[in-house]
Amino acid sequence: MGKKNSNSMWGGRFAGGPSAIMQEINASIPFDKALWQQDIEGSLAHVAMLAAQDIISADDAVQISTGLKQVAEEFEKDGIAENWDLEDIHMHVEARLTQIIGSVAGKLHTARSRNDQVATDFRLWVRDTMDAADSALEQLQIALVTRAGEHAASIMPGFTHLQTAQPVTLGHHLMAYYEMFARDRSRFSDARARLNQCPLGSAALAGTGFDLDRDMTAAALGFDAPTRNSLDAVSDRDFALDYLGAAAQCGLHMSRLAEEMIIWASQPFGFVSLPDSFSTGSSIMPQKRNPDAAELVRGHAGRIIGCLNALMITMKGLPLAYSKDMQDDKPPVFEAGGLFMLSLAAMTGMVAETTFNTGRMRETAELGYATATDLADWLVRSANIPFREAHHITGAAVKLAENKGCALDALELDELQAIDTRITDDVYTALSVDASVASRNSYGGTAPDAVRERVAEAMQALNMENM
Ligand code: ARG
Repeated sequence: MGKKNSNSMWGGRFAGGPSAIMQEINASIPFDKALWQQDIEGSLAHVAMLAAQDIISADDAVQISTGLKQVAEEFEKDGIAENWDLEDIHMHVEARLTQIIGSVAGKLHTARSRNDQVATDFRLWVRDTMDAADSALEQLQIALVTRAGEHAASIMPGFTHLQTAQPVTLGHHLMAYYEMFARDRSRFSDARARLNQCPLGSAALAGTGFDLDRDMTAAALGFDAPTRNSLDAVSDRDFALDYLGAAAQCGLHMSRLAEEMIIWASQPFGFVSLPDSFSTGSSIMPQKRNPDAAELVRGHAGRIIGCLNALMITMKGLPLAYSKDMQDDKPPVFEAGGLFMLSLAAMTGMVAETTFNTGRMRETAELGYATATDLADWLVRSANIPFREAHHITGAAVKLAENKGCALDALELDELQAIDTRITDDVYTALSVDASVASRNSYGGTAPDAVRERVAEAMQALNMENM
């Protein structure tokens, strides 16, 4: 790969060619070829503007555009033959264009630099991946809301410190993740709005003396406006960091859900049976069904966070304007993008297809004495006992139930009255897990009715009624 002759693009200034090692460290084509569509799209917009502004002739513009379209067809069909001598995707496109249409191809780069070109291409790529993330997140939310609707009244233990705390409904638990993913979507949409300015026309760093119409190229590429400062425009990678930040945070949310699924799928819990489609067996232990997809979602989140970290560290020491370090901006974004989209798809599949073992969840909530707080609250409310004392009495009731191996509401009234005479038959209205969750009907609480209301709102927000 790459011969040792002087480079065709900047060979005027350099007598000897780069060493093989220099070529290898310098070449970004192995990864930035992923930008070929954006690169050609950007060039088509640029050349149309150059002609509209009479910077090049209409004839030249037609030749260049037709040639660019042919390059696109070839790349689509045959892929891109990498040549390290041509460094990056921008030079690969231009070199092929030159082969097709001859020296008129050289007019394409008028009033442009690879610095504003790559900043534009990369924004377009990141914008597409943000849009794809948003659609995939919507699918994940739809899966969560659907399952939450099915399980608005299914009882499970709610945990703090991973210790049984109070009963909650499974629907409420799933809707907690709906909220997290709603915030993630809003992070992507904020980031998209900030990204959506066009660097094209900033040229190398200082702008250009050609009479460009930057509004025209910005509009042609779907940007809201051109960027306002040429130095910033070629130096800025905030849009990539914003994307990685939003992906990392969303990855973190998916990782927490994955972690819960892994715990829930373990035999001592037995809360869920993960679908065959997202589990694997063991080559040696026939009884095993491993939650590999969930584990990889958890693992991928770590790698996405690593990608964010990598680009932050790349950028933090760079003076204005462009430095070649910035070529290293793409691998972490491409890597994170792939891991992130795959994680979203796997998570959506798992949520949609997991079987929730609601009997086991309820039984665990009952035997975990999750309604102990309800008993204490009943003693306070109905028997006017100070909370500290109520807490003590409740402790004795839990101990008795534990010794008998039964739920709190399975204790006989005379057994409870032996602990404290002020307890009456009415206490049973507070002791069952159903009564407990039904009582927590404050806005945002776990009561089945409250959950159904949140599910209905979410379905409306997601346009699910029409599905
Ligand atoms: N391949 C380069 C990159 O991705 C393109 C910009 C090159 N600019 C330059 N001044 N050498 O960053």
